[in-house]
Amino acid sequence: MIKQEALYSGKAKTVYKTDDPEKLIMEFRNSLTAFDGKKKSEAPKKGYYNARISQTLFKLLEENGIKTHFNSMLSDTEMVVDAVEIVKIEVIVRNIAAGSLTKKYPFKTGEKLDPPIIIFDYKSDEFGDPMINDDMALAMGLATKAELAEIRKLSLKINSILIEYLAERNLLLPDFKLEFGRRKGKIVLADEISCDTCRFWDMTTGESLDKDVFRFDKGDLVAAYREVAKRIVPGIKL
Ligand code: TMP
Ligand code: ASP
Repeated sequence: MIKQEALYSGKAKTVYKTDDPEKLIMEFRNSLTAFDGKKKSEAPKKGYYNARISQTLFKLLEENGIKTHFNSMLSDTEMVVDAVEIVKIEVIVRNIAAGSLTKKYPFKTGEKLDPPIIIFDYKSDEFGDPMINDDMALAMGLATKAELAEIRKLSLKINSILIEYLAERNLLLPDFKLEFGRRKGKIVLADEISCDTCRFWDMTTGESLDKDVFRFDKGDLVAAYREVAKRIVPGIKL
């Protein structure tokens, strides 16, 4: 496979074309941002840890019957993925109240949310990823009714699989963000599942081991990501 020009460069990843129109290369970079890009930084090895964490979790999901865009690793920070048409919805799954939920609604940080809450945001930097409902998603033509139902069902199944895997590694999953794509008429999981897109809390101490360390200056981001990689990725070189 031959890596070609960059198709798109986001805040933390760059996507490259390849000589195969069905395949893309997703590079996990060390840059990170928060608050719509207002806060920026670089963290050594962040791309490596996030790539390996995503690889491990995509593989786990595939083994449990979830279709994802993941193919293989080209290098420690580059993932070969299927080309998909991204659905412009960010799906947030919440198990424990944290972050913006506690700022905008009367939930207290740490409160258990049972059943889990699924939130759809319109994926748009221009509009600041506003929360939408099914009617708005349909009116904007973001997805069909059947696709929205499928996305909800898959998100809940992914949530259950991740919660169990992480609990065995002494990690809580308060919330996380997923993106889906269309491939050959089917909805598949895309993007990444990493410390940038999930909240991970140590089950014993409640310590944040994710991007909140950067968002809210809670300490050493690289140490937090390394700790998650150590617990999640079998045999990883740290
Ligand atoms: P929030 O509490 O800031 O709304 O974040 C909810 C979850 O979504 C959290 O696990 C982090 C993740 N997230 C992203 O992956 N990308 C984003 O742009 C934002 C705002 C949150
Ligand atoms: N990814 C978003 C940004 O860069 C927000 C966040 O994750 O907090 O601004």
